[in-house]
Amino acid sequence: MNGKEKNNNQDKPWGGRFKESLDKRVEAFTASLPFDRRLAAEDILGSMAHGRMLVKAGIIAPPEGEMILKGLQEIREEISRGEFPYDISLEDIHMNIEKRLIDKIGPVGGKLHTARSRNDQVALDMHLYVKKELREVEKLISALQEVILELAQENLEVIIPGYTHLQRAQPVLLSHHLMAYFWMLQRDRERFLDAHKRADLMPLGAGALSGTSFPIDREEVARELGFGALYENSMDAVSDRDFVLEFLSCSCLLLMHLSRLSEELVLWSSQEFSFLELGDAFTTGSSMMPQKKNPDVPELVRAKTGRVYGNLMALLTVFKGLPLTYNKDMQEDKESLFDSVDTVKDVLTIYGQLLKSIKVSREKIATALQDDFSTATELADFLALKGVPFREAHHIVGRLVRHCLQEGKLLKDLSSGELTAFHALLGSDDALSRLSPGEAVKAKTCRGGTAPEAVRKQLQAAREALNTSFI
Ligand code: ARG
Repeated sequence: MNGKEKNNNQDKPWGGRFKESLDKRVEAFTASLPFDRRLAAEDILGSMAHGRMLVKAGIIAPPEGEMILKGLQEIREEISRGEFPYDISLEDIHMNIEKRLIDKIGPVGGKLHTARSRNDQVALDMHLYVKKELREVEKLISALQEVILELAQENLEVIIPGYTHLQRAQPVLLSHHLMAYFWMLQRDRERFLDAHKRADLMPLGAGALSGTSFPIDREEVARELGFGALYENSMDAVSDRDFVLEFLSCSCLLLMHLSRLSEELVLWSSQEFSFLELGDAFTTGSSMMPQKKNPDVPELVRAKTGRVYGNLMALLTVFKGLPLTYNKDMQEDKESLFDSVDTVKDVLTIYGQLLKSIKVSREKIATALQDDFSTATELADFLALKGVPFREAHHIVGRLVRHCLQEGKLLKDLSSGELTAFHALLGSDDALSRLSPGEAVKAKTCRGGTAPEAVRKQLQAAREALNTSFI
């Protein structure tokens, strides 16, 4: 500083201790304003509750409280009108709002920060924000479940090959296959809702780390802001971001599920499978190959899963080894969280539309079912039912399949003479009827099985599960 330049630190809420100006590059490097502006609504909500409590506790006078609340209300309006004068030299959203309040109502604005630190303030904002987003994500997941349920209902009669190792295994109902994703999403929804319990702890009153000597009423603030419980330890309150990490980890599982479904949509819409077609509005063309119809949306969902995993890894790594209590490292929680919130909400919103655009190619699927051995297990089951030990039955049918492969035939092409050569019981009409995919599916009547009657019960259970709200 050359003596003529003003010490810019004097304008900062914490400027009192500093003789020299903050380096401009450091100012930009340490500022969180470009991204924590997103917490403005939560910050004002928290400040209003804190201000009211200060009045009730007799820490500030009622007219002072009124001025503060009125000032905060005006700031809220300025922000929503896009007229708030954000100033990066004030580092973050908290100090921007506080400075603006003082500019508007004078030194009394400086009383709002009594019995509070930015450490418990930012923790409060993050809790409020995560609670809000958890609720929204929960709603979006159930909307997507609804779409899956409808698609499953519409395709109740459609039989597709079921796979293990991506090899044709046994025929299943398409609706059964789709419903597997419904239940994954159900668990995802439950996980987000369970995470809500930890987001529902109120940190304010922790001060910088040790609590406060002012006679505050934390219960009152918690009640006003709709929190279910309080942090019992001030040091934990300002150090904890588990609730953010939980949001990120729930997001990882959710996207992992949608990534698996995406992979199936990519496969199934390929010419090789041709089980379905994605709507034109949800696919793109190629700049060179005129015939192309590319499944960009499921591909991007698959890729964005990596990004959401990355956010969890980044934040777990930030927190590993951090000593108690607040450290500036913790400011890095925001971009990871915000990015995952945006990604998850975008994906959930577009996914329902994508699924609605699907046209199931029933004929192509029916053709696919004709040329494989996916009912071989049915023959083995038939023999086992007649008393042949299953292991033996498995061998008999295995040899039968080998015979077919050598002869270039399918099981259904075999004459009863060829069949009885392998086992006397195999020549019966009863045995042959087992070879149809429809019969194979119909036979899986156990609870959770793919028989139409079992799937109907499943759909009913799903409807009930969907109607249960948790928060
Ligand atoms: N911008 C900061 C953050 O997001 C707010 C808390 C700052 N506290 C502090 N002691 N520097 O973490």
